[in-house]
Amino acid sequence: MSAETVITATPNTQSTALPNVVLRLGDTAPNFTADTTEGTIDFHEWLGSSWGVLFSHPADYTPVCTTELGTTAKYKGEFESRNVKVIALSVDSIEKHHSWIRDINETQQTTVNFPLIADPDRRIALLYGMIHPNASENVTVRSVFVIGPDKKIKLTINYPASTGRNFLEILRAIDSLQLTANYGVATPANWHHGDDVVIVPAIQDADIPQRFPKGATYVKPYLRITPQPNL
Ligand code: BEZ
Repeated sequence: MSAETVITATPNTQSTALPNVVLRLGDTAPNFTADTTEGTIDFHEWLGSSWGVLFSHPADYTPVCTTELGTTAKYKGEFESRNVKVIALSVDSIEKHHSWIRDINETQQTTVNFPLIADPDRRIALLYGMIHPNASENVTVRSVFVIGPDKKIKLTINYPASTGRNFLEILRAIDSLQLTANYGVATPANWHHGDDVVIVPAIQDADIPQRFPKGATYVKPYLRITPQPNL
């Protein structure tokens, strides 16, 4: 199946025959149509010109997932300020999603404010390689796909069911990706917003004064540091 294949999320007994696709950084995020808690979407149309975070959770009505979706709802403003749309997925039904959202809102003191994809036939989970058969044959692991405005996959993360994700780390990684996309800089180990960044090797020394007016420190020919350019 090509990365461009459009699929639908309607139940299909043939779904177990679908390949469990491996997606790599730089691949086009496959398009699909799906039922979500905010209506039927065409994924690429829904993304529009935004960045996107598509993330899977193993199952509705489970404790770690409940905290993750509540946390995502609380960070909606942080995602929006970065021009990022978030969307969750599990292999549960739309009815189950709707009733579970009531529990999330109640227990996490929030209001779920982003769509949850219903993928009961696992078509989208398989399209994105979110099923890791040696972890579980039936449900997804905790996959994260960060997708750029060009619909290319910029970052992937996979966590096991037992480890809840750090959504501040996802925001931090998005900040890094957007700095690279917009300014030609990379972020060093343990970088956080406000720290110095490094100039990518593709930029010539001669171009640095014009591209980085805040200045640069030349530690080594390959290690050139500059203040975060968008502050
Ligand atoms: C959870 O979300 O809490 C969970 C789901 C599957 C396995 C373990 C934990």
